[in-house]
Amino acid sequence: MSHFAQVRRVPGDPILGLMEAFRADPSPAKLDLGVGVYKDAQGLTPIPQAVKLAEQGLLDSETSKSYVGGHGDPLFTARLAELVFGAASPLLGEQRAAASQTPGGTGALRLAADFIGHCLPGRGIWLSDPTWPIHETLFAEAGLRVGHYPYVGADNRLDVEAMLVALGQLPPGDVVLLHACCHNPTGFDLSQDDWRRVLEVVKARELLPLIDFAYQGFGDGLEQDAWAVRLFAEALPELLVTSSCSKNFGLYRERTGALLVCAETPDKLLDVRSQLASIARNLWSTPPAHGAAVVATILADDALRILWQDELERMRLRVASLRLGLVEALQPFGLAERFAHIGVQRGMFSYTGLTPRQVQRLRDEFSVYLVGSGRANVAGLDAGRLDQLAQAIATVCAD
Ligand code: LMR
Repeated sequence: MSHFAQVRRVPGDPILGLMEAFRADPSPAKLDLGVGVYKDAQGLTPIPQAVKLAEQGLLDSETSKSYVGGHGDPLFTARLAELVFGAASPLLGEQRAAASQTPGGTGALRLAADFIGHCLPGRGIWLSDPTWPIHETLFAEAGLRVGHYPYVGADNRLDVEAMLVALGQLPPGDVVLLHACCHNPTGFDLSQDDWRRVLEVVKARELLPLIDFAYQGFGDGLEQDAWAVRLFAEALPELLVTSSCSKNFGLYRERTGALLVCAETPDKLLDVRSQLASIARNLWSTPPAHGAAVVATILADDALRILWQDELERMRLRVASLRLGLVEALQPFGLAERFAHIGVQRGMFSYTGLTPRQVQRLRDEFSVYLVGSGRANVAGLDAGRLDQLAQAIATVCAD
């Protein structure tokens, strides 16, 4: 008897699969605009200097590899909560909010999903259409009822009115997943006015927001990007936020993130956190220590923190200038207007509006790798090759 005879092969992950296909492509002209990792002018994903310095210090000062606790490194979680909610947030002083360390932002999402499934049975979760593909599968795998609200339509424009109408019809008590900034995959973010309107609907429908905050510092700045999270945290008694240190600290493979919870009272927060620790124990037991220790070291040290903030700001500005550079490079082909949205969108990603066929042609004929949906990781661009990319886009747009 073969135990595995019934196991079927499934297709590889569409985003991570692109990374492998790109690595195997021998073309010297290849361009990886697939997976969301930042690249510098040399096409490398650098380790920030602040991270290197923190790691060097840790190498000497670390005295044990014993487990961290169920909620992770307390210094990391305290500092991260300040980064997300603001150091002066009354929520923290009142002990109504806290973070639980997770393996990356994806771990935080999975912890949130299982918390909802275990502790809020029957609640559905509503995702933007479109959203990061893993949102779709992760919440479904956790057994939640998954629904969608409109976000960006077939015309590749943010449709806030349609979003608000749909949110206004959700079953009370359901969970709504919102992207704090740098919407993945579209790059279209809500304005502050839009956020205020969403908040009113969330209150009126008694929805529970789960805010995915994976790109703090990549949109308009470290503090600016936290604006909506802080608005919601101040206005609502209960909130879930997932935070990732993958992009802003360049710690991708160290799997460093957190699930942050705001509750109505300190006592209720302890109830929720007891559940999170218990769920996490069955998922990964205790979280990995290294990345969190690096983040805690940086955030607790004035000089390292200033260095990190400066490095992050330089990454942010580079991506913003690549956006404008690409639109400019498309100008000679008469395509600047058609792709003007690339300059308006925020963060790493751009929903280009290219069709799956055009994406396939870019890959086959020019070794340019985008996600099939037309999502381009602008942070993977090379300023010296914008003309080459514009030429390739113009070719595939010609028919
Ligand atoms: C992406 O969307 O490319 C990133 O969030 C990386 C990932 O894990 O998919």
